Amino acid sequence: MAKGSRRSWCPCRSVAMIVRPARQEDIPAIIEIVERCGLRIDGLDYSKWSGVVLVAVRQDQIVGFISALPGSPYGVITEIGVLPEYQKGRACHKLMESMELLLRSLGMAAWAGYVGDIRGLDDSMKKIGAESTGVGSMWLRRL
Ligand SMILES: CC(C)(COP(=O)(O)OP(=O)(O)OC[C@H]1O[C@@H](n2cnc3c(N)ncnc32)[C@H](O)[C@@H]1OP(=O)(O)O)[C@@H](O)C(=O)NCCC(=O)NCCS
Repeated sequence: MAKGSRRSWCPCRSVAMIVRPARQEDIPAIIEIVERCGLRIDGLDYSKWSGVVLVAVRQDQIVGFISALPGSPYGVITEIGVLPEYQKGRACHKLMESMELLLRSLGMAAWAGYVGDIRGLDDSMKKIGAESTGVGSMWLRRL
């Protein structure tokens, strides 16, 4: 999309991006994304991730990640985040596309995910064909 069009222009658009499985050494970059995207919940340990984690990489820099817990009757996408300076550069699209491919290959028929209302992502969710199951809150119980 050209500079000055509907969405703000991101210089990262012209640079190739790959999505790959996360490795242990990617954890500090993932934690940085969690913090800078405002996804962090106080007191939780973000150095350990269960399930599947993919990262988006541009020019050797991790710019985004997505995590999911495979399961039945549906898998759960637990987090997705893209560094603010790389947002609107299609990283989220690429991460979702890759995760959906992976979840389908694992035999999953659907995924669910919590999206806070402050995120303003309703239209994007509808556009990809997702449906809201109702309005509510995510509840966290510390063990
Ligand atoms: C939401 C987020 C992951 C999108 O990443 P991104 O790489 O900028 O998204 P993309 O460029 O691939 O665009 C994906 C779609 O989301 C929309 N979108 C991106 N950021 C948005 C924002 N802040 N508000 C509303 N819509 C947004 C885009 O317009 C696009 O929609 P389109 O397909 O209709 O054009 C990113 O803004 C982010 O990390 N936000 C903070 C964390 C967050 O909200 N996580 C998800 C909820 S838990």
